[in-house]
Amino acid sequence: MKNLLKQMSMKEKIGQLLQIPPFFFVKDLKIEVAGPVEELHLDEEKIFFAGSALGIGSAEEMIEVQRKYLEKSRHKIPLIFMADIIHGYKTIFPVPIAMASSFNPEIAYQCARISAKEASTSGIHVSFSPMADLSRDPRWGRVVEGFGEDPTLISSMVEQMVKGYIGDGIEKEGNIASCVKHFAGYGASEAGRDYNTVDISKISLYSQYLPAYRKALEAGSRMVMTSFNTLDGVPCTVNSFLLRDVLRNNWKSNAVTISDYDSLKQILAHGIAEDMKEVAYKGITGGLDIEMASSAYSNHLESLIDEGIVDERLLDEAVLRILELKRDLGLFDNPYKGASPEMAKTIVLSESNLQAARKAAHESMILLKNDGVLPLDSQAKIALLGPYSTSRRVVGPWSWHGRRDVHDTLEEVLNDNIIYVNCEEDPKKYTKEDIDRIKEADIVVLAIGEDEHLSGEAHSRSKIRIPGKQEQMFEMIHSLGMKSITLLFNGRPLILDQIQQSNALLECWFLGSESSSAIKDILFGTVNPSGKLPISFPRNEGQIPVYYNHLNTGRPYLGPNDYNEYVSKYLDIENTPMYAFGYGLSYSTFNYSDLNLSTNRMTETESITVSVTVKNDSNVEGDEISQLYIRDYVARVSRPVKELKHFQKNHFKEFQSKVIEFTITLDDLKYYLGTGDLVFDKGRFQVMVGTSSDSYLSDDFELI
Ligand code: GLC
Repeated sequence: MKNLLKQMSMKEKIGQLLQIPPFFFVKDLKIEVAGPVEELHLDEEKIFFAGSALGIGSAEEMIEVQRKYLEKSRHKIPLIFMADIIHGYKTIFPVPIAMASSFNPEIAYQCARISAKEASTSGIHVSFSPMADLSRDPRWGRVVEGFGEDPTLISSMVEQMVKGYIGDGIEKEGNIASCVKHFAGYGASEAGRDYNTVDISKISLYSQYLPAYRKALEAGSRMVMTSFNTLDGVPCTVNSFLLRDVLRNNWKSNAVTISDYDSLKQILAHGIAEDMKEVAYKGITGGLDIEMASSAYSNHLESLIDEGIVDERLLDEAVLRILELKRDLGLFDNPYKGASPEMAKTIVLSESNLQAARKAAHESMILLKNDGVLPLDSQAKIALLGPYSTSRRVVGPWSWHGRRDVHDTLEEVLNDNIIYVNCEEDPKKYTKEDIDRIKEADIVVLAIGEDEHLSGEAHSRSKIRIPGKQEQMFEMIHSLGMKSITLLFNGRPLILDQIQQSNALLECWFLGSESSSAIKDILFGTVNPSGKLPISFPRNEGQIPVYYNHLNTGRPYLGPNDYNEYVSKYLDIENTPMYAFGYGLSYSTFNYSDLNLSTNRMTETESITVSVTVKNDSNVEGDEISQLYIRDYVARVSRPVKELKHFQKNHFKEFQSKVIEFTITLDDLKYYLGTGDLVFDKGRFQVMVGTSSDSYLSDDFELI
């Protein structure tokens, strides 16, 4: 590639740093990605120098664009096609926050594997996924796109997602490259308002927010997308601490960096550049390779280099990374790699893909409450109420080509048991006849929540209750004394103080193509729910951020019996969340006993085997996700009261008991200082093993 680089003109090299939507190359293409692109001031020559395309609709489109593009390319350097295949291409998997609820990284692998096979038939080469952004703020709309509040869980899901995209090599058909995003700390946007300022400590950055991006790169991500936010006052898109110190010098990564949509130009709005020429200067010196949907590089980089302000080597480094990615994707050998209308017919939305999506949906649901009404009797007479009774809007944000017309609704799949259905959420619209018919049912199933457009990018909410009149409808049903099962459809934790009065509460998130069938399987006990919360549910918005791995503070609140008034607490609510990280019920009853450590004293080179007995004290077989947390009692900085270090899902037959084992190693005891150094200290530790972050057995051990 270095020889090719030498043959390229300055304009051709700069062109490789530009990414634009495909309709720029072929005017009548329906655009996949809208946005403020008309003011790019790109002439025909600059357009056909562009190195990559943002989004593509089909194999036919890709072939047409690539062919037209290569006709004008002197060196026949192919376009690379990138798109947001976040949780499926046409077969849609549960949204990432739902997949995280499975605590099963294999689900993330399967989602990515199938996404890659389906997407590559349209000629897509890179997916802007996984999103590795940790978030503790459910007001943020993009919680739905991430894997929750814990770095260990997020890293596990992200790692498998990257491996799923890559398969047996990105050069092969049916495999695509991954672009991890949004680097970095985007999930900490202040007040949960999207695109807002991020102001976090270096210890938080290193210990909470960075690990999952690094894991993605270690797993093989070949690109990194920068985030819209600032970090220490510098927009991440031009932040040399992130893009050079951390990414290149510390992590030794050669990944291609790409801005988010228009985010290089946005440094004008951030107020750190006077004009587009300075924007280009800050981008290339900050470490940004590809500029998505803005044209600072195309219109100003050449003059910056000609004037000796920018060293051409910075341009060459960036272009070389891009050329090497194209080479490794096999695009020089076959610029049309993967694009195949014929393959699409057999691969996309295949029955096996849909079955995989259904299995993922099963594992992504969380049983938050059940006083015994679930599972339903197969002959149960159901009154099905609420907007999601008949809605097909269950695929969630970023569902690319996920088609809603192929999905059953809840009404359709529960048809044999429904005696009354009404999607109306306003209780005033229910007549006496309606009420009388509802009363004839054995149980009311309430399918309620927030619409999928109330979460996702640019869709933050300051109040996170169930919107509209749905809570009033719940009150009406509750006042009738009817037993109820509430199915929750949402892209973020919601305030459930009222709804949790329901006899049963099932967190369904947005489960994708097989949503309704999967929910039916859980309702009737064909499948036993096993999901656990990947993010805490607050009692109210005032409690945000509430998360499990918090520090102890100097005045910890010890609970309702704490006599001391002057401790860290609220006057009006508990400190604990409504539902804790790692919490989730089952139709089985799992009990933990006999926590045992192979030793209570461990040296740096040794490990501890931790075992616990888990018994299924029920006649219902099911899966249990056991979690292991560690606390470092004394360190150079204050450490969280607990941190998830390991988890495992095990299957139990009726009344079966198993001894579950984990291994604690020195790596589990290390932590980051604000300098970025990873250190450990000898001393006392606590190990906790249990069914959630707030229910466990514990013991102490010492690192000597
Ligand atoms: C959007 C999103 C990013 C996405 C990109 C391309 O603004 O922030 O996640 O990959 O643009 O569509």
